Amino acid sequence: MLTLIYAHPYPLHSRANRALLDAVRDLPGLQIRDLYALYPDFHIDARAEQAALADSHTVVLQHPLHWYHAPALLSLWFEKTLAYGWAYGHDPAGRATRALEGKRLLWAVSTGGAERAYQPEGYNHHTMAQIATPIQQTALYCGLQWLEPYIVHGAHRLSAPELAMAAQAYRARLQAELDHLSTSQER
Ligand SMILES: Cc1cc2nc3c(=O)[nH]c(=O)nc-3n(C[C@H](O)[C@H](O)[C@H](O)COP(=O)(O)O)c2cc1C
Repeated sequence: MLTLIYAHPYPLHSRANRALLDAVRDLPGLQIRDLYALYPDFHIDARAEQAALADSHTVVLQHPLHWYHAPALLSLWFEKTLAYGWAYGHDPAGRATRALEGKRLLWAVSTGGAERAYQPEGYNHHTMAQIATPIQQTALYCGLQWLEPYIVHGAHRLSAPELAMAAQAYRARLQAELDHLSTSQER
């Protein structure tokens, strides 16, 4: 199972993420958890989120970049879902808990800024590898494998054919991940 955590605070205004999501939603073996649809009041059901992750071999985090990090509800999702005594730390009996150990994490993010803006000499001064650091380190701390991120730059300036290509590439990336899972399960 591949679980896609989708976090877009303005889904009706989305162009890029909506196209990406539409391109993958029928993939067999994929479940989508649309956080802003599930929790419009921000009351995240941590148990339900943990159950979805526990059933998954790969987790995809898909969102637009907002102020150089994840939208607020996804930040809250990290806090509530990746809880002490489940994702890290110890249970009441003192045993180490790492529920996500060995699972794979794909960060799928869209940006308004062009790729050249995410360079030391660009107006964002930092590379996407640097911007990724808090999410990457959160994943590593929980024992997840960090996969090569899927990044769509200059999302609101993409032409319709460019966006269609990005969406198909995203589908291919998730399909490859599902293929990887079925191959590793056969071994
Ligand atoms: C509140 C807010 C903050 C944003 N912050 C950033 C940012 O830090 N860096 C960036 O490149 N784009 C930023 N953007 C632009 C979005 O990332 C961009 O519009 C989005 O990726 C396009 O995808 P969509 O069509 O699915 O909304 C921001 C947009 C909003 C509304």
